[in-house]
Amino acid sequence: MGLGRKIGDYLDLRLGIRDILEQNLTRYLLPRNINAWYTLGAVLFTLFALQFATGILLLVYYNPTADEAFRSIQRIMNEVPYGWLIRTVHAVGANIIILALLMHMLSVLFMGSYKAPRELTWVAGFLLLLLSLGMCLTGYLLPWSQLSFWATTVATSSSGEIPLVGDVVLRFLRGGAMVGQPTLGRFFALHVMGFPLIFGLLVLIHLFCVRRVGISRPPFGPEWHPAEPPVTFHHEEHPDGIPFFPHYVAKDGATIAFFLALLLAVVFFAPGLFFPPASFEPADPFTTPRGIKPEWYFLWAYQTLKIFPNEFLGLAVQGIALILLLLLPFLDRSPERRPARRPLFVSVYFFGIALFIALSVWGHYS
Ligand code: HEM
Repeated sequence: MGLGRKIGDYLDLRLGIRDILEQNLTRYLLPRNINAWYTLGAVLFTLFALQFATGILLLVYYNPTADEAFRSIQRIMNEVPYGWLIRTVHAVGANIIILALLMHMLSVLFMGSYKAPRELTWVAGFLLLLLSLGMCLTGYLLPWSQLSFWATTVATSSSGEIPLVGDVVLRFLRGGAMVGQPTLGRFFALHVMGFPLIFGLLVLIHLFCVRRVGISRPPFGPEWHPAEPPVTFHHEEHPDGIPFFPHYVAKDGATIAFFLALLLAVVFFAPGLFFPPASFEPADPFTTPRGIKPEWYFLWAYQTLKIFPNEFLGLAVQGIALILLLLLPFLDRSPERRPARRPLFVSVYFFGIALFIALSVWGHYS
């Protein structure tokens, strides 16, 4: 008897693990017409695992003080063996994750899988998206470069425009009137400890919801019909479906490989893509570099603030848009999920994507 089998028997006798594995792998059936968009959750899971691993390695040499942070990153890039690889994978990985997050969200919107009874899955997912943006924002400051310093100054300054409490909020975020050591301290604490802890909890809630409710059947094909949401708890079964393992795991693996290839392609062939010149200079509070722009996924927000005559109005419009998106499953209550039967939703959907792209391009060139 092989060693693997012996270990398996040992664990099975004590914990019954074969039953758990079978229930969640070979006997876990997914809809027959499931498509590649459903692999994005697994892609995100993998990319975040990579982010955690490279983040922990970066912590070995990173020093979170205003005097040392920039130099410690330079040391990681130039002296620590493979430090450049770990750091570049972490920085580029953040961008690829946001891309995958947006694609995952757009796919569940298009297929209407945010609808009842999956409202809580959506809410947990949306909070994960906001938290991921928070992790990007706090991580951006850590290298303490000119880019970090001025991008954070711009990003936090709009909060000062909120009537009455603006100044208090601004000082709370920065830990003082200006971006400085206290800002670096709190952003570091949030980036490496505070946010990841909440993030881990939310991922567990999100995956629990997905597994407990059951994967939704894609709303395509002649046999799909809208059904009223159940009045008592109901796990969506797919008795004629395909097993998660090995069938869907193979599909998950293919998309994961694609995203990892994309990540490595940027790391090896365009390593400077997300590093503008200001990211190679140490932070200098007395010299504002020209043309500081936020990262591509914050450009829409940056441009919206510039369009409105006062920043508070811009912030309010952004806040309302985000709250509407968060509450979407509670507002959109029809059980119809087929895109062809939801012309109004699909029009708003494509208009929203076009607006996001247009604002981002405008923000980039403005
Ligand atoms: C860290 C980020 C996230 C991870 C690791 C994650 C993971 C997953 C996984 C593994 C699934 C099941 C397979 C699939 O449909 O892809 C899933 C489903 C789902 N996710 Fe996420 N997700 C994340 C973020 C989000 C976000 C930002 C949203 C929306 C705002 C969202 C909404 C949903 C919904 C509604 C489903 C149910 C899909 C269905 O049953 O058809 N997720 N997620």
